[in-house]
Amino acid sequence: MIRRLEGERPAFALETENTSYVMAVSASGHPEHLYYGARVAVNSLSDCEIFREKREFEPGNVIAYSEEHPTTVLEDMCLEASFLGHGDIREPFAELVKPSGSRSADFRYDSFEILDSKPFPEALPSAYDCGECLKLTLRDGDLTLELYYGVFPDCDVITRSAVLINGSEKPVRILRLLSVQLDIPFSGVGVTSFHGAWAREMNRSSSTLTAGKLVTESRAGCSSSRANPFFMVHSPNADEHSGNCYGVNLIYSGNHYSAVEVSAFGKTRVVSGVNPTGFEWQLGGGERFEAPEAAITFSPRGFGGQSDNMHRFVRRHIMRGVWRDKPRPVLINSWEASYFNISERSLLSLAKSGRELGIELLVMDDGWFGERSDDSSSLGDWEPNPKKLPGGLGGLGGKLKKLGMDFGIWVEPEMINVNSRLYKAHPDWAMAAPDELHSEGRHQRILDLANPEVCDFLIKKMTEVFSSADIKYVKCDMNRIFSDAYSPYLAADRQGETPHRYMLGLYRVLGELTRRFPEILFEGCASGGNRFDLGMLCFFPQIWASDNTDALCRAAIQEGLSFGYPQSSFSAHVAASPNHQTLRETPLETRFAVACFGVLGYELDLRDLSSAQRQAVRQQIELYKEWREVLQFGSFRRIMTGNFHEWMVVSEDRSRAVGMLLQELVNPNTQSGRFYATGLDPERTYRVYSIAERLDIKQFGSLINTMTPIHIKQDSALHNLVARTVKMNGEQEDLTATGDVLMKTGFALKPAFSGTGFNENVRVFPDFASRLYFFEAQ
Ligand code: DGJ
Repeated sequence: MIRRLEGERPAFALETENTSYVMAVSASGHPEHLYYGARVAVNSLSDCEIFREKREFEPGNVIAYSEEHPTTVLEDMCLEASFLGHGDIREPFAELVKPSGSRSADFRYDSFEILDSKPFPEALPSAYDCGECLKLTLRDGDLTLELYYGVFPDCDVITRSAVLINGSEKPVRILRLLSVQLDIPFSGVGVTSFHGAWAREMNRSSSTLTAGKLVTESRAGCSSSRANPFFMVHSPNADEHSGNCYGVNLIYSGNHYSAVEVSAFGKTRVVSGVNPTGFEWQLGGGERFEAPEAAITFSPRGFGGQSDNMHRFVRRHIMRGVWRDKPRPVLINSWEASYFNISERSLLSLAKSGRELGIELLVMDDGWFGERSDDSSSLGDWEPNPKKLPGGLGGLGGKLKKLGMDFGIWVEPEMINVNSRLYKAHPDWAMAAPDELHSEGRHQRILDLANPEVCDFLIKKMTEVFSSADIKYVKCDMNRIFSDAYSPYLAADRQGETPHRYMLGLYRVLGELTRRFPEILFEGCASGGNRFDLGMLCFFPQIWASDNTDALCRAAIQEGLSFGYPQSSFSAHVAASPNHQTLRETPLETRFAVACFGVLGYELDLRDLSSAQRQAVRQQIELYKEWREVLQFGSFRRIMTGNFHEWMVVSEDRSRAVGMLLQELVNPNTQSGRFYATGLDPERTYRVYSIAERLDIKQFGSLINTMTPIHIKQDSALHNLVARTVKMNGEQEDLTATGDVLMKTGFALKPAFSGTGFNENVRVFPDFASRLYFFEAQ
């Protein structure tokens, strides 16, 4: 709800279920930020006087805004939007070059409107189903800046965006127009952001900022694995359960920039938007430029409260389409099973093997088109290779259908290999600066999506591909970052627009394809999680989180993602052991435990599994299907992170829940363990159980000799034979307790093995071991 507060100057309170965002226009006409936090009751401007900062004299060596307002010191005010000039020397919200060459700007309040709903930007993805929206109009001469505040009461989120309109005849150069500015009246905040690289996305990094500036940005052309656009600003001692925490994210997939800056006067400014580096936009007379939308949230319940809000926001107001709330299929992906070496025959046999285990969909990954037998050719030539797929996509799709398997394919529409027919026909469709060395990534170039003709081609081509068989799923990949971003289509003096125009072109392509194929389940991908952001999630309900399928690395990556994104937004696969990226060996049980906390798939050669492994996979899939809705759409909480990863997901009605405990490295002689549940109904009684463990005797190595009458040499034929025929019972939890007890005291786990004895009540829990606990209300 948005309330206009009574008083002599315009003032507003934006209210969600649990938060208030309060601002007022200052006497000098600048929208002043007064408060954002837990809900407070304010009805009038005079109610705000208590927390509005006052000033009688300006401090030394600062700029006084004007003679009329000598105590207005913009450098030391909390503001809704700041510009260069007139004294505010902190991070600006916008940076413009006016026709006169002046870089000063002074946008002041003109008018407001409370809209029933938030308008949609013309060319950018944005959140939907908003409550009311406040539109503030500011003016500086012929320039108009519209600030939009969308209120999402059900998830305590406020979205912000801005539109600049040039009402003059002459062009204005925009050097930056960010999306959100949030001024906090104190310093010493904690900042947590998520960084990484290929195969190690979303590493959490935290610091306390008492001075200076912390920047999280991408110049990779995509939101990137280097720095995700999502970040948190919080009490320095906030944890999962307590402390004030703001979450900030941008609905954009290109170069982004976020800064948290402490001013000379101990205030903290938070900004986020399109990265100004390499950006310059000429705004002609009468034209408008829209900045992407940003989402901010606040919770006094620490990181957990913050992620609850963001998860609800993403699930209800970002993801859309038929798959938003629909259980996602369990799939087998051909990539780590056979890489480029695919054919109709081998895919059908993989699919058959998967079908027997309960898998629902086969994804034919890279390698099916043109002359593609490695990554050096054919991107752009989207015709099936007749040797690999003699019956084309339709032929394979038909045969899969007969097997009872759905069909999914991989494409990488944005890219082109020089070694392709498309490049020969249209060399000018690839990005490259004239007469300069073009540095390549994965032997490929980026198509110039700033060129509308290229976008039209992609829409047409992909429509042909997606219509040529009964395709139920599409993995849409993007495997290089931008380096020498240059659009042959744009004029020389417009090249600063290339990266953003590329994004606008891409959004048009994705918007059109998802509109034409509403039933297809689209999965985003960019060398794994190189473009995991809210912009992509407006088109694709799920994204491949990382090319790293190692369970331990995945636990950290998924944990990182979970601070800002719900489980149904990332796919996670059970892969081979030793793992292809780390060569680490992890138990099948743990690979499943981690992957089932996302959208589950398998990505290994199922035909190579032993019969015991096949039996285990069959049971995993059965279990997953039984618990799929809770796992994909339940509310997720991190209970513990570190050497132990303790997670829990609870169904909306709190009748069912799944907990996971994963250990990285064993700490010797620590038998006791406890699982603290969260999110349950304290009044209800739950049965809690784990799946009975069946232990492979080889897990005990040469300790087998403490139990056998004859000596058994480790890994000998006899050892293997015994292991095949004798299985040992391991521990199983099965208890009943109220939600209140399970959350407050936790339940004590069966003691862990610690080298002094074993029976079936001992929890064998070596390095990388895990358990799943299932909760059912009685
Ligand atoms: C990168 C993706 O992340 C992988 O899963 C796979 O699809 C390859 N590309 C194929 O080239």
